[in-house]
Amino acid sequence: MNHPAEQLLRWYDDHHRLLPWRVTPSQRVQGILADPYRVWLSEIMLQQTTVEAVKPYFQAFVARWPTVEALAAASDDDVMRAWAGLGYYSRARNLKKCAEIVATELNGEFPSTIEELKALPGIGDYTAAAIAAIAFDRPAAVVDGNVERVITRLFAISTPLPAAKPEIRARVQAITPASRPGDFAQAMMDLGAMICTPRRPACVLCPVNDGCKVLGEGDPELYPVKAPK
Ligand code: ADE
Repeated sequence: MNHPAEQLLRWYDDHHRLLPWRVTPSQRVQGILADPYRVWLSEIMLQQTTVEAVKPYFQAFVARWPTVEALAAASDDDVMRAWAGLGYYSRARNLKKCAEIVATELNGEFPSTIEELKALPGIGDYTAAAIAAIAFDRPAAVVDGNVERVITRLFAISTPLPAAKPEIRARVQAITPASRPGDFAQAMMDLGAMICTPRRPACVLCPVNDGCKVLGEGDPELYPVKAPK
């Protein structure tokens, strides 16, 4: 395992957020992965909504529809009503369509490869990578806004967004470990949410501060660099 991944995973073991779609710490120690249905549902909800806003909706959905088959059998109206308040309603329509395909055409099993996942309604590059990593332990590069911030700082990438995206992706892929890639992806998200924040990042507490290029050279708040308007 390479260096930043090792440091980050050690930090994650002690400091990860307890979120309802994640496995419990004791399950994690046993190497048990999260249920793909729960990972998929949470990632769709988290696409345009904050973690705090998603939590009660996620809990309500899995209590009412504990499996993909149960969600597929629900009425469109019930699903839309349960989604009400989360916004971006095309997500709920695609959610229902995707559940029907998985339940009826795929034997209730979510596929494990990025290509197959992306063929399903509502699943794009980011969500496919997140599901492949978190639910199936595939070493996929999972890059969201938090991860872009962490990586541009860690490697002092001064190319503005969005031009920096290919370089960011290559860096993430290069440091993604073969072992525990799902935990690694979620560790990057937690680091971005709790330590490597947009304003006043807590660099003294950061598990990868020894290797952070921006911390040595300049002001982390200036990263990611935005293109001039
Ligand atoms: N944002 C999107 N996916 C997430 C996850 N699995 N954990 C925390 N934040 C997220």
